Amino acid sequence: MNKAAALEELKREIAADKSLPLIESNLVFGEGDPNAEVIFIGEAPGFYENQQGRPFVGRAGQLLDELLKEIDWKRSSVYITNIVKRRPPENRDPLPEEVTAYYPYLKKQIDIINPKLIVPLGRFSMNIFLPDAKISRDQGRVFRKGDWIIFPLYHPAAALRSTAVLEELRKKFGTLPTVRRKLADLLAEKPAELTAADKHLKQEKLF
Ligand code: URA
Repeated sequence: MNKAAALEELKREIAADKSLPLIESNLVFGEGDPNAEVIFIGEAPGFYENQQGRPFVGRAGQLLDELLKEIDWKRSSVYITNIVKRRPPENRDPLPEEVTAYYPYLKKQIDIINPKLIVPLGRFSMNIFLPDAKISRDQGRVFRKGDWIIFPLYHPAAALRSTAVLEELRKKFGTLPTVRRKLADLLAEKPAELTAADKHLKQEKLF
């Protein structure tokens, strides 16, 4: 089965899972190139995302689009999704049990796409991959967890609330092309080191 078909099947599987929390909201599965090298993972859909059934289409999404343009990456060339795939009421933070309930589906989605680089946007998303990481300290650094290479960034919504965060997000977002290129070099040079499964889920800085 190709990746697009596998993602469609996964979407049907989530839609059919009535045990999931927030079932009264619309499903916002994610979108982009099923063969993307880079996946961006936010927290949960907001008002406009729920309305349109698409991730990052509100104000935070407009900022994400702007940042992608600044590095000359087409939105359609990456994959964009959230941990929690339905909108929490009043845009509150997702509850731990909501994250836990949706995580197996996010994992399947990542496994299908098999991206070279995972970019969690914000603390919530970062902490599901790197539980000990601190967003202010660790955004813009590259980590390895098992087969995954993770590059956490500030959430665009946080950047809309603070000029300092916006500056930092813009600066680190600007390094994405270099990070992706460096990964390609490292993969070419040291395939064993980068592809070895790390059963202990130890986090490791690469740069
Ligand atoms: N914030 C998120 O975390 N995800 C979206 O899709 C929109 C806003």
